[in-house]
Amino acid sequence: MPEVFVRGNDVARRFQTGIARVDALYPASFVVCGGDRIAIVGPSGSGKSTLLHLMADLDAPTSGELAWPALGISGTLRPTRIGVVFQAPSLVPTLSVVENVELPLRLAGAVTFARENALRALRTVGLDPVADKLPDELSGGQAQRVAVARAIVTRPRLILADEPTGQLDQRTAEETIDALLAATEPTGAALVVCTHDSSIARRMRMTWQMDHGRLHAPNVGTAHTGTASGPDASSAERR
Ligand SMILES: Nc1ncnc2c1ncn2[C@@H]1O[C@H](COP(=O)(O)OP(=O)(O)OP(=O)(O)O)[C@@H](O)[C@H]1O
Ligand SMILES: [Mg+2]
Repeated sequence: MPEVFVRGNDVARRFQTGIARVDALYPASFVVCGGDRIAIVGPSGSGKSTLLHLMADLDAPTSGELAWPALGISGTLRPTRIGVVFQAPSLVPTLSVVENVELPLRLAGAVTFARENALRALRTVGLDPVADKLPDELSGGQAQRVAVARAIVTRPRLILADEPTGQLDQRTAEETIDALLAATEPTGAALVVCTHDSSIARRMRMTWQMDHGRLHAPNVGTAHTGTASGPDASSAERR
């Protein structure tokens, strides 16, 4: 039985600004298990980032329940168990590239080999030569790859990457996905990637489709409302 890393039961997120209301995620049920490779695809504004932030425990659902049974996340453990690549630029501008990558290790108190591990993560994305630069001195694509290095530096069990290849040419995009897969495959970690790029989605084993806040994914429990697609679609059975 694969370990359940994230389980969502009827999870919904509504944003309310004054009288304006957006149902970014209608009630959705899903699981992410160890070893999963999931692409979340869908048009702009369909709720992909909203779902990813909920799975990262960076946002709270308006209703429904989320649990991380096999990750045991709480407090300072979260940055080491879940690695997140944000869609928007997220590097700390006053820290060098290598200091940015070290940050999750330092926050978790793992300071001893922080520099070595950060440089190794930068090497995996081909950016060790810019270790001492400031984020402002990088191209958008380089900054995105530094964010990937920061997400994998703690060897997390779950990697959640929001458009990690959005600003990259096809070859660099493939290399970045290679780095994310290399960081997950040997350890049985799970990888969830939001992407508009069908060639990146094909590198995952399963595709979850989002449309106007509705998730079509392998559901758990009795309220089955969607299907998985892709070569691993039958894995919905094991859940
Ligand atoms: N903090 C917020 N406050 C109000 N509305 C929000 C907020 N965050 C997201 N939304 C709205 O929720 C909906 C889903 O947004 P989300 O960012 O999840 O879409 P997305 O699928 O990631 O889009 P993209 O492909 O452009 O990144 C959109 O209508 C968006 O405007
Ligand atoms: Mg998004």
